[in-house]
Parts: sequence; C-alpha cells; structure tokens
Amino acid sequence: MTHQIPEITLNDGMRIPAVGYGTYKLKGNEGASAIESAINKGYRLLDSAYNYENEGTIGEAIRRTSIRREDLRITSKLPGRYHTYEDAVITIQESLYRANLDYYDIYLIHWPNPKRDHYVEAWQALIDAKKWGLIRSIGVCNFLPEHLQRLQEETGVLPSMNQIELHPFFNQATQRKWHEEHGIVTESWSPLARAKDVFENDTLKSIAAKHEKSISQIVLRWHYQLGAVAIPKSASPVRQLENISIFDFSLDDDDMKTIGALSRIDGRMWNQNPAEYEEF
Ligand SMILES: NC(=O)c1ccc[n+]([C@@H]2O[C@H](COP(=O)([O-])OP(=O)(O)OC[C@H]3O[C@@H](n4cnc5c(N)ncnc54)[C@H](OP(=O)(O)O)[C@@H]3O)[C@@H](O)[C@H]2O)c1
Repeated sequence: MTHQIPEITLNDGMRIPAVGYGTYKLKGNEGASAIESAINKGYRLLDSAYNYENEGTIGEAIRRTSIRREDLRITSKLPGRYHTYEDAVITIQESLYRANLDYYDIYLIHWPNPKRDHYVEAWQALIDAKKWGLIRSIGVCNFLPEHLQRLQEETGVLPSMNQIELHPFFNQATQRKWHEEHGIVTESWSPLARAKDVFENDTLKSIAAKHEKSISQIVLRWHYQLGAVAIPKSASPVRQLENISIFDFSLDDDDMKTIGALSRIDGRMWNQNPAEYEEF
C-alpha cells in the first residue's frame, strides 16, 4: 500500500512533501532495506547527513526502487568541521559521490557552531553550489533567528528551510513564528521526541483515544497542522505506514492547544542549545 503525501512549496518554488523520512542510524544493508521500504510506502522526502555516514545507504536504497529520481527529494547536511568555503565545496562534492547522485534536492548546514564563526562562509558555498547545479534548494538546521538574520545581511539570501528540534515537549513557537514571517519552512527533527516519553504521556493518550488513532499519528498530525515538515524515522514498515496515515482526520483547536501546552522551556531532549552547543 502506498500513501500520497500532500506537498508544500519552498520560497524558491521547489515542491516537497509535507512529511519526510528520517534516517539517523540507518546504515548498511539493513538501513538500505528500511529506506527502500519507506520509499515504497510513499515517502519521497528523505533526510540524511554527511555525519550519519549513510549517504551511500540512501543512494543504494534509491537504486533498489523503481521511483524516478525526479520524484524524490534527497537531503544531506554539511558537518561543522567543514565550514570554511573551500572545505564546504569539497564536502558537497564528496556527499554527492558517496550517494552516487548528480545533485541533492536539499542541502543544509547541520549546526551553526557560532563560536567558530564560519557559518556565513559555509552558506556562501551552498549558494554557489546551487548556482552550479549541485543542489536545488539550500537551507540550514539549528539556526537561531540571530544566525538567520546574519545570513540575510551578509549574503542577501535566506534559507528555504530550517530543520530544528521540534516535538510536543519543545514546540519552538517563537522560532516558528520567525520562520513564518520570513518565508522559511520549518522542518521538525526528532518529531516523536525519539520515542522518549511521548508514548507514555497521558494527555497524548487521551487525544489518541478520542480520535481512534495512535499517539504517533496524533503527534505527526500536530506537526502537519502547525505547518512543520516532520521527518519521523522508523525502521519498521508497519510504523512507516502508520506515520504517514495522518491525512484522514484533523485535530481541533482544543487538541492543538492541549498538545502545545506540553511544551517546556527546558524541553530540549539533550540540552542542545544552538547558541552554545557545537557539533563537528
Ligand atoms: N539536524 C539535526 O541536528 C538532527 C538531529 C536529530 C535528528 N535529525 C533527523 O531527524 C530524524 C528523526 O529524528 P529521530 O530519528 O531523532 O527521532 P524520531 O523520528 O522522533 O523518533 C524515532 C524513534 O521513534 C520510533 N518510532 C517511529 N515511529 C513510531 C511509531 N509509529 N510507534 C512507535 N515508535 C515509533 C523509532 O523506532 P523504530 O525505528 O523501531 O520504529 C525510533 O526509535 C532523524 O532520523 C534525522 O534524520 C536531525
């Protein structure tokens, strides 16, 4: 069974599905089988990263399916250790070689690492790689409004998307509003809070019972209604399908408010505040 996922449009005109597929930890033959299964279930937007060391696995999964390349949206990310302009250009090329692709649909800067202060150079490399046809849409992850503002001031180009930690325990209301005001799509990483505490939460349990849906479907529908592109990871074909079977019901305003109220100021799962946290 295949599911049709609605699409949204990025600020550069590219269309992407409103729900994608996370691939952190999916590697090797097992990983390629899981990703192949996800594509066959209906996922078309795939997330990856140089640092996940699975761009090759993504490439293998794509080769195993009969879906046309132009119908897929493949994402990868630039690691923090390669933020200088020259390193970033070489890394984008290396990312492509690893996946055996001619272009990425989306390429993101993985973390801003503001204390190193090279993210504007990295951004210029992404802008140029887009001009050279290596990338179709460019974006970032984990950038705070102050970092986004600087990209705009110094290069004149704002990202098409910002992939940020977003789940019921950390709903990123302020950051989402900033994105909305500036035409940036919010993509939610760890949308199910990596299965930590969401499935035991009584509030989510009661909303799930009311709609006769699973907790995962309630949470992913919440992301969809917020206008955020969730990229849930599941290695299980059954759960992959469950996670995109969210387009036959709606949460009402009370449900949305109740889930929104689960958010905590200290709700980041691993205390990874991009102003301080560094990842290389
Ligand atoms: N940019 C960044 O800095 C950043 C950081 C973290 C993650 N990411 C990206 O975001 C993606 C998603 O985040 P994530 O992998 O951290 O966490 P997640 O998608 O929130 O949760 C994944 C966990 O939930 C379980 N799960 C999935 N669907 C389920 C269902 N229907 N019922 C019960 N359990 C379910 C999975 O187990 P099974 O596999 O066994 O189903 C897995 O343990 C990543 O894979 C990665 O691509 C980006």
